[in-house]
Amino acid sequence: MSEQVDRRYGPATLPRSRGPLSAAVLDALRRPPHDLPAGLGANLDPADPITDEDLQLTLFLCYELHYRGWRGVDEAWEWQPTLLALRAEAERPFEAALRRLVGAPSVPAAGVAAGLAELVAADDGPPLALTLQRRATLGQFREFVAHRSVYHLREADPHSWALPRLGGPAKAALVEIQTDEYGNGRLDRMHAELFRRTLQRLGLDASYGAHLDAAPAVTLATNNLMSLFGLHRRLRGALLGHLAAFEMTSSLPNRRYGNGLRRLGLDEVATRFYDEHVEADAVHEQIAAHDMCGGLVRVEPALAPDVLFGAAAGLAVDRLFAAHLLDSWAAGRSSLRTPVAPAPPPKVPLVALPTVAPPAPPALV
Ligand SMILES: [Fe+2]
Ligand SMILES: [Fe+2]
Repeated sequence: MSEQVDRRYGPATLPRSRGPLSAAVLDALRRPPHDLPAGLGANLDPADPITDEDLQLTLFLCYELHYRGWRGVDEAWEWQPTLLALRAEAERPFEAALRRLVGAPSVPAAGVAAGLAELVAADDGPPLALTLQRRATLGQFREFVAHRSVYHLREADPHSWALPRLGGPAKAALVEIQTDEYGNGRLDRMHAELFRRTLQRLGLDASYGAHLDAAPAVTLATNNLMSLFGLHRRLRGALLGHLAAFEMTSSLPNRRYGNGLRRLGLDEVATRFYDEHVEADAVHEQIAAHDMCGGLVRVEPALAPDVLFGAAAGLAVDRLFAAHLLDSWAAGRSSLRTPVAPAPPPKVPLVALPTVAPPAPPALV
């Protein structure tokens, strides 16, 4: 394969293995599609599936075949039956762990939007955003951005899988949200591209999947749960609930992230991704809770508990993610598996962003 391939948009480079299962999958993916050894992955029972490095990387390896794929890996692996069977074996303990983590949410009489609001109001996660706003060092902020790059460089893609599975009001609402996420069809306004600028401004490699080896299991889990919900039609309610919780807990933290970068001396190009979300997600949260999730449940009332499960699972795994970062920093450790290195100078010159006045976030106390 040519060295001149543009790595910005993927496919990602295969990461290193983290245990016997991910090693076996990586070994297989490097060769033409073939049947995996019988029994590989049978009776998987990790102590904590959400933080199990081998399990989460195995899931990520399988899921990525449905996104941009892996560099040098035959695209036919995407539908190889024995790999799909292995993925199902790995999904079983992961989904069970998510359900154990959040229990079975009950839907209040006031409806699913009220249930989402209750979950968000009760979400008292570790103060990651506040720490990034007020105290984090530039090195810690760069770590946070490297973690989040796994998602933000493909921002909105997992939730797009819901589109062909829906009709009616929920679909219209989802399209309205996703249209913003994809920059209304303008490359330089796509949220993934805004985030690429943040990575570049922080001197981090901005190519797709660049920080996978550095991302621990809990970071992969925040992504894998979206892929789990997105790739199973039976979990479409959970997928929409996840998106709603995401949007409903976005505006204030993003204001804090942007202010944290300004405190560290970063400019408007670096903060644009976060500034953009302050106002956009204040609108998205209303659309997501009422029009999208409310609209879904009006058409398919039986999906209400799934909506709340997806929201609760997203919030819970994000709390684990935040705790991991803060605990690592409190102990004087990196929160990444390997330190992030500065990126080489970009081969493509930065293109000036259009002059859209960013919101002027007031200082938060
Ligand atoms: Fe976004
Ligand atoms: Fe949004």
